[in-house]
Amino acid sequence: MKVLVLNGPNLGRLGRRQPEIYGHTTHGDLADLCRNWGEQLGLEVEVRQTNHEGELLDWLNAAADTETPVVLNAAAWTHYSYAIFDACAQLTTTLVEVHISDPSQRPEVFRHSSVVTPHATKVIAGQGIDGYRQALEFIAAEDDD
Ligand code: DQA
Repeated sequence: MKVLVLNGPNLGRLGRRQPEIYGHTTHGDLADLCRNWGEQLGLEVEVRQTNHEGELLDWLNAAADTETPVVLNAAAWTHYSYAIFDACAQLTTTLVEVHISDPSQRPEVFRHSSVVTPHATKVIAGQGIDGYRQALEFIAAEDDD
């Protein structure tokens, strides 16, 4: 089964971006890890990152059309993009929302709401990069049901 891991703005700078919050793993490393975890779980994982909201919307629309499960870290768009809300609403298969940090525990109040959560099958936050592994494990387990 194919799974898309979609990462939103600024996540391309993982490893250099506020490592005290997001850690030292680069986006390239994360992509390798996700593909390897996927292989172990029998999933074909494709990892993408974009700083352009329309591109993420196109990817989500295509995932809706092809009924592809999605692991989504919409980063800052999580907190205010109604276009992402509408795109997530159209997904018919599993949507796992992932955040490396736990936005609900961070001081900025704008991080405390998510447009993705109402449509998510599961939310994983504050687990670091391992959250992506947990998301893939969840999707693989759902597929076994
Ligand atoms: C994030 C949390 C968001 O609040 C933030 O805007 C990000 C990353 C995370 O993975 O912890 O860019 O989604």
